[in-house]
This record gives sequence, structure tokens and C-alpha cells, in this order.
Amino acid sequence: MSRFIDELKRTHDCGALRATDLGAEVVLFGWVANRRDHGSLIFIDLRDREGMTQIVFDPDSSGPAHDLAEQFRGEWVIGVRGRVRSRGEQFSKKEGKMVSAANPALATGEIEVEVLEATIFNKAETPPFAIEDKSDTREEVRLEHRYLDLRRAPLQKALRMRHRANHAARSYLSNQGCLELETPFLVKYTPGGARNFLVPARLHAGKFYALAESPQLFKQLFMVAGFDRYFQLVRCFRDEDLRLDRQPEFTQIDIELSFVNQDDVFELVEGLVFAIWKAALGIDLKELYPDGHFPRLKFDTSMTDYGNDKPDVRFDLKHVDLTDLVVEHNGGGIPFFAAIAEKFRSGAYRRDLPAEIVKALVVPASAQFSRADGDKLEQLAKSMGAAGLARAKVGPDGTWTQSPLAKSVTPEACRAINAATGAKDGDLMLFQFGKTSLVHTVMANLRVAVAKKLGLIPEVGHGNQWKFLWVVDPPLFEYDDDSKRWAAAHHAFTRPHDAHVDLIEKDPGKVLCYRYDLVLNGFEIAGGSIRLHDPEVQRRVFAALGIGEAEAQEKFGFLLSALRYGAPPHGGIALGMDRLSMLLAGTDSIRDVIAFPKTQKGTDLMSDAPSPVSPSQLAELRIRTITDG
Ligand code: AMO
Repeated sequence: MSRFIDELKRTHDCGALRATDLGAEVVLFGWVANRRDHGSLIFIDLRDREGMTQIVFDPDSSGPAHDLAEQFRGEWVIGVRGRVRSRGEQFSKKEGKMVSAANPALATGEIEVEVLEATIFNKAETPPFAIEDKSDTREEVRLEHRYLDLRRAPLQKALRMRHRANHAARSYLSNQGCLELETPFLVKYTPGGARNFLVPARLHAGKFYALAESPQLFKQLFMVAGFDRYFQLVRCFRDEDLRLDRQPEFTQIDIELSFVNQDDVFELVEGLVFAIWKAALGIDLKELYPDGHFPRLKFDTSMTDYGNDKPDVRFDLKHVDLTDLVVEHNGGGIPFFAAIAEKFRSGAYRRDLPAEIVKALVVPASAQFSRADGDKLEQLAKSMGAAGLARAKVGPDGTWTQSPLAKSVTPEACRAINAATGAKDGDLMLFQFGKTSLVHTVMANLRVAVAKKLGLIPEVGHGNQWKFLWVVDPPLFEYDDDSKRWAAAHHAFTRPHDAHVDLIEKDPGKVLCYRYDLVLNGFEIAGGSIRLHDPEVQRRVFAALGIGEAEAQEKFGFLLSALRYGAPPHGGIALGMDRLSMLLAGTDSIRDVIAFPKTQKGTDLMSDAPSPVSPSQLAELRIRTITDG
């Protein structure tokens, strides 16, 4: 039987003691964060997840404990019994007098613990990097020793915040009548959507499971089964190219509800987000959204004004779509524009679904953008695939300078573009033209880059601004210019607006649907839809997509069958918990809020996954690998 732990139980954590505890006898356990020797006294900062307490080893209080403390090194795990005392006073050289030794930066800063008895639970090797709040150690090194990195206060804080958010979500959704139900991870592979990870089925040589990219089909089956309201904090797996806000395995707060419309889903999620912000940050979003609702923006407007469906509306800087104007002016003397205008005039391009567009963004004169600033933006545009970044500075009389476009633009087109963009003396106009999707993407990123340069948003974090937005009413179908076919813009199970059902055959491009995304400060934090539960409309949607009965059955078999057995009207949504946590924590990397994340290349540097397996394991699975390309 050992004295510590068995007899001496921990009385406090390392962040608990205050001046009101003076004189108390306490038992603390923790890690040696640092050690300072002052003559015969040894001072240790003892750390655990709750904070730090200064403990003092004085040979006059306990000789054996002091002897032990002489051995202590950083990150050793120790236990102490001692008495809480005031930090007293110390001589300040700066002030030339005795001053209070309290440390106001520390919650326990007024006290220290005079150690009467101590033990070493475990020694530690010297860590490869210091466990400090701010670390400039390379992320690779920190990921390799993630268990040490996780001892650092910012990560502890982020994960604890995540705990509070999870807890709040569970309790809120449960109070809303949602049942927490589980769905399988090993599922049937279905094409479309994100790329799946495949898992070989040993018992069925040559066959594979897919790791579920989301519980989508299963949660709909819960509705068919009559569970009415469901939620799950669930891991999802997607074999995608990774970015700062994407991981191959990530967590969703997944929700599905029966007998609801879009407004009902929004109301539930707004309440959920309010509850999470309150629990995680102590922020009452009611102060920012007094009626309890987030604003809505139509998908179409979002694309026109911001170039994507997840706009950061902490700042304005809207795009101006000049396509119609350019067509009216036959290109306005600018050869690139003229080429695009001609395609519209000749009927090669539809006016309502243009394959190419022209867009502008105005950088205000007050920004004092230099030529070098413009060049940097051009580099950014090129890195995204743009051919370049056309620019024009507006002079006092409205004419353009510092631009190759200035030479050829007609005075009428110049005036019209200035009027359309509102550009005035000293303003700089940035143009993109060409393939619609590329122009949107480039311009959307330019908008954010310009905002950062102008100081409208911080480089990282949110400046405590929380701009939520529902992006609604996107089209159900997307025209694929290459194959000249209609494709599902998201998936084929989204319910079209009732008033648009008749357009499915006549004018598919005009059919809007009940799909929605929740956006926060330029990040998509949730997405969902009201589902198509009516088999007849479903058949017409498939037909518009060129998917026949047999193909539909092959692809979506069990869901289609289930929908024929009395499916209630239903809809749902999934919130990206990692992204949400990233935004809550004010960091720009999702890895900062995931305990054991993968790198951008999908590897785990700590465990070295993925790794090769033995030939016998592969043989058992009847798999042969091709390693030499
Ligand atoms: P969706 O695919 O939009 O919807 O995903 C929902 C939310 O999950 C987050 N997310 C990710 N987070 C981190 N890494 C990733 N690789 C990643 N991919 C997505 C995003 C996104 O908004 N079944 C539907 C939901 C529904 O219709 O109910 C779905 O999965 O924040």
C-alpha cells in the first residue's frame, strides 16, 4: 500500500487554491512545469489540467521532501502534502523595496504550498519541446509527440471547450425530443458524394465495405421507422484532399426530423448554436440576434455578390457582375470582353446560366493600394488558376489609368462600368472574366485577401464578430457544360420547391430546392436539406438526371424501397463539429481542436499511420498491392 493515492487522497486540483484557503493542509498531484532554486529553497510550479500552483520545498519544513525535490526535473509526475500559505513579500530591485510576491497572472497567484511530504510517481525523459503556451516548435514535431503537445494550455483549453460544446449539444437536442441513436460505420459503397475509404471484407474475399461518409441514408431510415427526431455526435470518413478546415475523419452533430419544414429545422439549429456559444464561450448570441434567428441569403445572390455560397459578411466589398453590361456594350472595346459578348450574342451561351462571366471588385482609394499590393493579389489569383488579374485605377475625371484595359475601353463602357461598380477617383478596380466557376472562386478569395489587407478582418480569428448566415434556395440541378447534361447540384434526394415541381421537365435550371447551409464568418459550418419523400417526384428528378429505374435501384436500392413503405415528410442537417470548434477557439486550423489529428497528407505522425501490412495479412484478405506504380 503506498502512502500517496491510497492513503493521501488528492484534496485540490492545481488551479483551485486561493487566499481563503490559507492554513489548510492539502494534497496535490501533478507535473513539474518548472523548478527554481533560491538558495536552500526549491520552488516548483506544479501543473495539472486545471492550472498551476507554486509549491515550496524548505529543508526546515521537511528534510526528506527537500532532498527528493533536488532530483525533480521537468514533466516528472509528483505528489505533495503541504500547507497553504501566503506568498508574502519579496524585495523588488526595480522599486528598491519589499513588494507583494503575489503573481496576479495566476489564479492561484496569492498563495503557495509549503511542502511537508512528497513522492515521485514517475520520472520523465526530457521532452523534445517545452510545454509552454506559445510554442514555435514545428508542427510535425508536436504532432509526433501529440500527448505532450496536448499538455499545453491552449490545446487543453480548446478540447475542454469542445467538451462543453458537445455536452451542450447533447443536452439541448435531447430536450428538443431528439433521440441519440447510432448508425453503422461499415456500410455499402455508393457512388457519388465524397470519395469513400474502403475496408476489405475478410469473410467475403474481393468485396469491400465503405466507411460511412455520413449517416445520411440511415438517419432517413430512422424517420421511415418512426423515430421522429434523431441526433448523433458521429464520426464521418471522407477520403478527400485535405485543407486547413478538412480532416479525413471528422465529427458531425447529425440531425434528422420528421414532419418539419425548412423553418422548423432552422429554429432548432439556431437554438442549438445559441446553446453551444453560451456553454463554450459564455456568449449570449441573443444580444447579436435578438429575434433568435440568423439572416438568410439566397444562393443566387450569394454567388453574384460574393462568388461562393459561404460568404464572410463581416465586411462588405461585394462583387459586381458586369456580364450583362459587357454584352450590351459588345465588349466595350476590350478584346477579352468582346470575345465573351460575342458568345452570348451568337447564342452559344445561355443568359440565365452563363458559362463565362465578367466580374469586378472595387478596392477603395482609402486603402492606398500600391502596385506591389496589386502584384501580390495577381500572384494569389494565378495560384488559383487565373490567367492574371486585370486592374484599372480610376482617375479624377473617371478615366482609367495604370491598366492595359485603359487603352482600348470605349468612353461609354468606361462610364458604364464606373457607374455599375460605383468606383470613384483613386479607387482600384479588379477584374476577372472567363469560366464562371473559376471567376467566382478567384474573386471570392480576392475579396477575403483584400479585406485582410484593409484590416477589415483579422488575419486569424474573428475579432469577436459572429456573422451567421443561412444560404438558401439553391438550384436542384446543375448544368454540366462539358457533358451537356443536368446533374444533381447536391444529391438527388433534396426536395424541390413545391411551386417548381412542374419545371423539372420544362426548365430544370429554374428548379430551386430546400437545401441550406449555415455559414459563419466565411466557413460552412452546417449543411442539410428537406428530403424528397414522394416517390413520384423522386422518379421525375431521376428522369431529369437521366437515371433510369434500374440504375436508381442499383445505386440507392434500400433507401428507395424504404421510401415506398410510408416515409413521413422529413429533413435534417449536419453541423461540422470540428469546424465549429475551430471557429469557437479562434484558430485557423482544424488540427488545433482535434485531439489526434492527421496531417494535410492524411498521416498520423505519432503512430505512423497509414503503414504497410504483412503479405500474410494481405493474402488473408485476398489482396495484392501495386507498390511500384
Ligand atoms: P455535409 O457534407 O455538408 O452534409 O457535411 C456537413 C458539415 O460537415 C462539415 N464537414 C467537414 N468538416 C471537416 N472535415 C471534412 N472533411 C468535412 N466535410 C464536411 C462541414 C459541413 O457543413 N449528410 C449531410 C447532412 C444532411 O444533409 O443532413 C452532410 O454530410 O461543416
